[in-house]
Amino acid sequence: MEAKILQTPLDTAKAFADFMLEQYRENGMLTVALSGGSTPKILFDLLATDYKDKFNWSEIHFYWGDERCVPPTDDDSNFKMTKEHLLNLIRMPEANIHRVLGENDPIEEAERYGQLIESNLPKQEGNPVFDIIILGMGTDGHTASIFPHEIELLDSPKTCEVANHPESGQKRVSLTGPVINAAKSVCFLVTGDNKKEKIKQIFEDHEVAKSYPAYHISPTHGELIWFIDEAAAAQLED
Ligand code: 6PG
Repeated sequence: MEAKILQTPLDTAKAFADFMLEQYRENGMLTVALSGGSTPKILFDLLATDYKDKFNWSEIHFYWGDERCVPPTDDDSNFKMTKEHLLNLIRMPEANIHRVLGENDPIEEAERYGQLIESNLPKQEGNPVFDIIILGMGTDGHTASIFPHEIELLDSPKTCEVANHPESGQKRVSLTGPVINAAKSVCFLVTGDNKKEKIKQIFEDHEVAKSYPAYHISPTHGELIWFIDEAAAAQLED
């Protein structure tokens, strides 16, 4: 596990963008699972401007690590956010954008999206392997849409599952633990003062951290990189 601590959320997004560029230059193509959240929004703005001409976007394929079960026009849609902040501004072929159909029946969609991922990606030990999975961490320690009250999704044998937001009950489609842990690179983007306690507990292996889904992300063969800003890292010892 590697932790990169950057000064600001923008620096954090930039560090990840540089990492993605490095992987792209090594690989020639990339499959990337995106996430929702505040830092990805900054990342997408950056990719659409400073990094726009550094990638041949036809060689990148975007998937989503999780999506809210709402139409793509809904403000809650991770796809909508990505479209507005990135996809509308770059030349990526439609065929490279593999969105979760949030408007469809959640159970059927989790099944369909799981099958799509399984047929498009290479496999290792039965799991589809993404080049990069971007994750955030909620203030409750959730990641993707695996929440503490449904921590068993970490061990699901399926590629995707339907998750339920603990407060709103909103349904979501999420990658499961085995698929996240099968990726070549799993990258957390975590910024802000309200994450500092959880970051400390996770990094210092506190007992309570075991109830946080984010704590259990540990790639089987790949690498795990936490990109965090100084505010989120504030309680870590030097
Ligand atoms: C989502 C996310 C989710 C998010 C975290 C952190 O769609 O809600 O994928 O897991 O990454 O909640 O969000 P922030 O970066 O906004 O704190």
